[in-house]
Amino acid sequence: MKLTRLSLVLSAGLFMLIAGSCDKGKNVADDAGAKAEKLLARMTLDEKIGQMSQLDIGYFKDVEQLKQAVRDGRCGSLLNFLGTEQVNEIQRIAMEESRLGIPLLLGRDVIHGYRTIFPIPLGMAASWNPDAVRQAYRISSIEASSDGIRWTFAPMIDITWDPRWGRIAEGCGEDPFLASTLATAMVKGIQGDDLTDPTALAACVKHYVGYGFSEAGRDYNTTYIPEPLLRNVVLKPFRAAKEAGALTFMSAFNDLNGVPTSGNPFTLKKILREEWGFDGMVVSDWGSVTDMINHGFAADEKQAAEIAINAGVEMEMATTSYYDNIKALLEEKKITMEQIDDAVRDILKVKYRLGLFDNPYTNPEAGKKILDPAFLEHARTVARQSAVLLRNENGALPLSADKISSVAVIGPLADAPRDQLGTWCFDGKGENSVTPLTAVRDMLGESRVNYVQALKYSRDRNKTGFAAAVAAARRSDAILFFGGEEWILSGEGQSRGEINMPGAQTELLEALSATGKPLILVIMAGRPLAIGRELEISDAVLYTWHSGTMAGPAIADLLFGKESPSGKLPVTFVKGAGQIPFYYYRNNTGRPPSDGAWTPFDSIPVVNPQNSLGYRSFHLDYGFTPLLPFGYGLSYTTFAYSDLTLSSQVMKMAGTLTVTAKVTNSGSMDADEIVQFYIHDRVGSITRPIKELKGYRRLRINKGETAEVEFTLTAADLAFFNGKETVTEPGKFDVWIGPSSDEGLHSDFILE
Ligand code: NOJ
Repeated sequence: MKLTRLSLVLSAGLFMLIAGSCDKGKNVADDAGAKAEKLLARMTLDEKIGQMSQLDIGYFKDVEQLKQAVRDGRCGSLLNFLGTEQVNEIQRIAMEESRLGIPLLLGRDVIHGYRTIFPIPLGMAASWNPDAVRQAYRISSIEASSDGIRWTFAPMIDITWDPRWGRIAEGCGEDPFLASTLATAMVKGIQGDDLTDPTALAACVKHYVGYGFSEAGRDYNTTYIPEPLLRNVVLKPFRAAKEAGALTFMSAFNDLNGVPTSGNPFTLKKILREEWGFDGMVVSDWGSVTDMINHGFAADEKQAAEIAINAGVEMEMATTSYYDNIKALLEEKKITMEQIDDAVRDILKVKYRLGLFDNPYTNPEAGKKILDPAFLEHARTVARQSAVLLRNENGALPLSADKISSVAVIGPLADAPRDQLGTWCFDGKGENSVTPLTAVRDMLGESRVNYVQALKYSRDRNKTGFAAAVAAARRSDAILFFGGEEWILSGEGQSRGEINMPGAQTELLEALSATGKPLILVIMAGRPLAIGRELEISDAVLYTWHSGTMAGPAIADLLFGKESPSGKLPVTFVKGAGQIPFYYYRNNTGRPPSDGAWTPFDSIPVVNPQNSLGYRSFHLDYGFTPLLPFGYGLSYTTFAYSDLTLSSQVMKMAGTLTVTAKVTNSGSMDADEIVQFYIHDRVGSITRPIKELKGYRRLRINKGETAEVEFTLTAADLAFFNGKETVTEPGKFDVWIGPSSDEGLHSDFILE
């Protein structure tokens, strides 16, 4: 076993004690398991309970108290304790001054970057680029580990259909297939190729499970998810993350079908352990064990601890119900020593797998990599690939930096360094952000940029700046409006009831539009907003999400045509909050709507018979289509799809089917296209979605060139849980290859 010099000095004695022959025990499939088993045999009950407790730095009166707790083996993990020197000192105490010398696991939320901030995860999902996402998370781990962090609470892969939910920003959108591929990439990026590498962090897959289905999108709210939906949609990315090797899972805040997910043996034991064979560690969410009292599922902290331990939550985050009650619960035989041993073994395994027993220390030189130019360049690339062009009338974009004489830069987010970083960003600093205003000035020179903020922040209703904004627009060739949402309007506990552009932004846009100057709207937001009116009155709309440290240069690259926008929506955009939920893989209903059968609101006769409105599934006011479909996104070039070919019209259960198509860049600019592959199972033993994504590719296609794209299906790709079992059923299937969930070349085949 390799020891670094530092760890040799500090921990050689301990290492000699624990390295030895491999005992057999539960969950000891690998070397780490065998070592954990051996160490477990030497631990007192108090030390075991200590390992099951994760305390936040804020829990302690002062650092001395914290150090004593570590000396006493009082906590196995710390939350939000960082900084090379501090971490090395606390690890030294754990290794040298606690009885067994067990290193600490230091965790922190590193959700979309540490100091180099990448787009919010929903934005990264819009890139449909797992390689770039994996690299972004690798960079995050390199930076975070340089401050002593070896465990992050990411990836967050809660599927949601509700843009009111503030945490939609943190996930990968609505689709289980896209989210699964990205979950895999995130885990691989976080953990790297070698877990014992000092830059590897343990991933923590969260929130297990169903949290994104909180009723009305109100955070922490109740969830009801029938088992077919749970298995066919919600669990999919979690399974993918487990298969990618994620070391830890986090239980969630929500109750699921009446049982809180932090006390839910069905999801934590039956599915995660028995069906999937997960042998890592499960931590609760912050206080989610004792929250079961508020849920009305436990009478007090003692019962909450009992329920959580029996369900399989192995480490308690932030609260101390385990620490305070495990002994009594054991005496009363409400929990067993075997359960405690299982939990502690899993916790120790994570520490062994990360190589912490050999070297828990952080190299003080590692911090030099923070904000490395290569990291910033990657952040710029990912931000560019995450932006989605939603409208571009008459080629309003790209602008030509050579031809344009001046632009008006207007809006609350043109120069808002913290807001562009987005939610869940503890360590990113606004001072490192390059804002759009700075980037446009760099591109054009300051004299060609007429900047008027007009609204101080996105919710601002004060219109005193409107006149100056309109005047700036009048003396410019084009208007660049940077608006959307401040970062604080999305994220944990930050749900909205309405999802419109806040404040007086739309009124300002109306005033700017009335000038007749080309109006280019750049929306920076943590969720898909209902922007029907804003789309109508703008010549071009670029949706950039909160895209991180390098948002400014990335957006400027796109506005001025250094690269074409190429992102596609990872989530359906609705017309208004009343249309929620609306997702592309919905079922057809018994009364599917169609153009002819829909009576729009204003066409309803004042006097009419009972049966005059069509009896179809639509809203009188919204109709039956979303504002923008999943997978949608425009480019500065055009792509023509042709030659859809199936390897056969019949697929055998044990065989495969290959579907190919050609995609030609028929426009005038080299660009990326995200090609999407969908299927539809026409008849099932339960109703099946009208479309399901089964593959995608981001392809670089130069102008005039044609790429051939190929997707392969197996029976497993067509399987679903029908309420009783997972089945692949013979019958007819549709296939599409196209640029979004709403378009594409179509064919069909029979599965037999
Ligand atoms: C609560 C959040 O739900 C979770 O996502 C996060 O990881 C923990 N707090 C720790 O900060």
